[in-house]
Amino acid sequence: MRYSTLGGGKRIRPCLCIAGYMVGKDDWSPLIPVAASIEMIHAYSLIHDDLPAMDDDDERRGKPSCHVRFNEGIAILAGDALLTLAFETLARVKEFPAERMLRVIASLGRYAGASEGMIAGQVLDIEAEGKAVTPAELEFIHRSKTGALLGGAVWIGAYLGDLGEAELARISRFGECIGLAFQILDDIDDELDGNKRDEGKATYPHVHGFEKSKAVARELLHNARQAVAPFGDRARILAGICDYLEYRRR
Ligand code: IPE
Ligand code: IPE
Ligand code: MG
Repeated sequence: MRYSTLGGGKRIRPCLCIAGYMVGKDDWSPLIPVAASIEMIHAYSLIHDDLPAMDDDDERRGKPSCHVRFNEGIAILAGDALLTLAFETLARVKEFPAERMLRVIASLGRYAGASEGMIAGQVLDIEAEGKAVTPAELEFIHRSKTGALLGGAVWIGAYLGDLGEAELARISRFGECIGLAFQILDDIDDELDGNKRDEGKATYPHVHGFEKSKAVARELLHNARQAVAPFGDRARILAGICDYLEYRRR
């Protein structure tokens, strides 16, 4: 659990959660356990994603993936335990009113879950392997497998930061755009990194080609910035995360 949660990773989801919170509040320290719970779910998803029955990847973040470093059984259980610990951690949070935390817990379950969240996307991703997918199917897979948890992270932060419904709608729009852009950029990077090319996988570079994929990602990040522009300086960290994603590579 420690190996796969604390050993590297960009922490983009907890950063988004805190950045969403900081649209409304200045002191983000009460949010740390909430942001950490989201990272635990992310870490679990990567451990399981790398398993032989899923993407069968031996490396993660330049190190042996969890099942290679330990073994498959332990990796499955480390993932299970991180998922469980995430919800236990959230249920123990005392810094925010209990009824708010209940909404957060239910929302996170949906963002990570099988109906329209990450697991739904992972199921479709497996089912699409080796098949031709339409652009609409591809977009749906990306929005659910990756976009849901990224967008969920920023929404949860903003919600606990006391934003109103209209402001939360802007945050949701931001989250949808940055969430899809994130997976497109990740697939572009994997394609550029010769070792990580996933031949049979449903990706933007495979379906749309490089240039179109880059253009779509750029436009999505532009739309994300636009969505939160009315918050002015309070959205500077959200905008900064868009810049980081757009300019950190290539
Ligand atoms: C990788 O996510 C898997 C995807 C959902 C694209 P990240 O790129 O956020 O992984 P780490 O935690 O920074 O390694
Ligand atoms: C992982 O997607 C998405 C998850 C929900 C875990 P990918 O399979 O495209 O990401 P990498 O390339 O393994 O990081
Ligand atoms: Mg994978």
